[in-house]
Amino acid sequence: MTTILATKRAAWTKLKAHYEKIKATHMRDLFSEDPERFEHFHTEACGLMMDYSKNRIRSETIALLTDLARESDLAGWTERMVGGERINNTEDRAVLHTALRYRPAGAFPAGDADVMPGVRDVLGRIRRFTEEVQSGNWRGYTGKPIEAIVNIGIGGSDLGPVMASRALGAYQHERLSGYFISNLDATQLTETLKGLDPATTLFIIASKTFTTQETLTNAKSAREWFVSQAGEDAVAKHFVAASTALEHTSAFGISPANVFEFWDWVGGRYSLWSAVGLSIATLIGMDNFEELLAGGNDMDEHFRSAPYDKNLPVLLGLLDLWYRDFFGAESHVVLPYDYALRSFPDYLQQLEMESNGKRVTRDGKALDYSTGSIIWGGPGNNGQHAFYQLMHQGTTLIPSDFIVPMRCQYAIRDHDEAMLSNALAQTEALMKGRSENEAKQALIESGLTGEKLEAAVPHRILPGNQPTTTLVYERLTPRLLGSLIALYEHKVFTQSVIWGIDAFDQWGVELGKQMAKVIMPELTATIDATTHDSSTNGLINYIRKGRAASG
Ligand code: F6P
Repeated sequence: MTTILATKRAAWTKLKAHYEKIKATHMRDLFSEDPERFEHFHTEACGLMMDYSKNRIRSETIALLTDLARESDLAGWTERMVGGERINNTEDRAVLHTALRYRPAGAFPAGDADVMPGVRDVLGRIRRFTEEVQSGNWRGYTGKPIEAIVNIGIGGSDLGPVMASRALGAYQHERLSGYFISNLDATQLTETLKGLDPATTLFIIASKTFTTQETLTNAKSAREWFVSQAGEDAVAKHFVAASTALEHTSAFGISPANVFEFWDWVGGRYSLWSAVGLSIATLIGMDNFEELLAGGNDMDEHFRSAPYDKNLPVLLGLLDLWYRDFFGAESHVVLPYDYALRSFPDYLQQLEMESNGKRVTRDGKALDYSTGSIIWGGPGNNGQHAFYQLMHQGTTLIPSDFIVPMRCQYAIRDHDEAMLSNALAQTEALMKGRSENEAKQALIESGLTGEKLEAAVPHRILPGNQPTTTLVYERLTPRLLGSLIALYEHKVFTQSVIWGIDAFDQWGVELGKQMAKVIMPELTATIDATTHDSSTNGLINYIRKGRAASG
């Protein structure tokens, strides 16, 4: 199927013209024009209320953006995805992570390729395993119950489990603690193992391919650490794996009974719903993990059925695309005001940037527009005392998502009201800013006059007009988290369909992996490296000699 460049769509041309008309308009004026703006630009589904009124849009903007989604055949691509077509065409794979959280009884996708028997079988095995561990029936080599769950993985086999386990810390079994090891240098591994007792530690080796250097290096070292204290025979009680590559897990020495399978139609960054979620399920329990899946399924149904102007993922994707392609915004910041979601921006970095960081269409044509925003962020409250200054008075347009609970998972005094007032104040300040007159007035009221007053004014002006979208929910539950994650997954998919790209491959990460294989032996060689550019040669030789001299 030939992919049409987004710039060739009629709605894109109309959006260009519309952008010229709206680009200089301040959101203050948009709010004055329409006192009911919140009413017109908020929508709610799956326990999430999305206020997108503080964006640089009018009704016409949403009409044109949703036309663009329709012209790009978003509905058709969605049905192709959930129908099991091989829409990841560069890897010739189906994209069926939605099947992992499909809750109704029956087949998915309907028809020949029903994947549900396999999915349900693995979910049943995960349930039995997590119940054994949580109940204390799963005993380590000295007969003690497990206390530490150590997930070894990287990318999608790490970020999802880290993010979801932290987000649902309030649901964690009281005897269990979760640890996550991903980094290649030995610091994370060493510092984690230092505090652990092998007799009560269970390692989950999570890797779709089971060939990833970081994961295998850490897994081998963890195994050595364990065997040196507990002996080889104890491995079966302390090492399990989540993988699609059963031949590699056996070669590593993990018994087939301890391998939780998933399939090549689950992308790495979409895998927390699969056996890769084993650490999450073990820590929070299978009932809660199934609630997480149900929340994902809620959002899938909403995404497939809601009209686009009420469709949370579609709107979120279109708004980001509006700023990326028409305003030229390069980055998008995600600001949870729920500390439980502190790792959500890191998780989204992979989801969004590995999916939509592409420069050619599905069929290999060069794009003449920008794709994937640079995603960054962190807990909003901390950000206020760090990077918000640049959002308020810097020179860059930075659209943001504020993620705000009505209540956090723990109620103490007035923490929630303090958190909420800050979150809402920031969206107001980013939208309104402070005009020259307002700045001057405030300074006069503080007693400043004359030259000092004039000198101070420019520093007190905040231009405002920074777009914010606010997602509000009552309290973070497993189900709500499932919906929130799926919201962003479908946001990314929506954008990829409009951009005409394959959101499910990641060829860009391969080159560096291959080059690292060449460099590794050169670091311990006795002769200088000469085959690279002078910078890389120079770095290899400088480090090799420095290590030889110091070590
Ligand atoms: O290098 C990128 C990547 O392939 C990701 O897409 C993936 O999530 C990660 O590496 C880990 O891969 P695996 O689960 O196969 O170890």
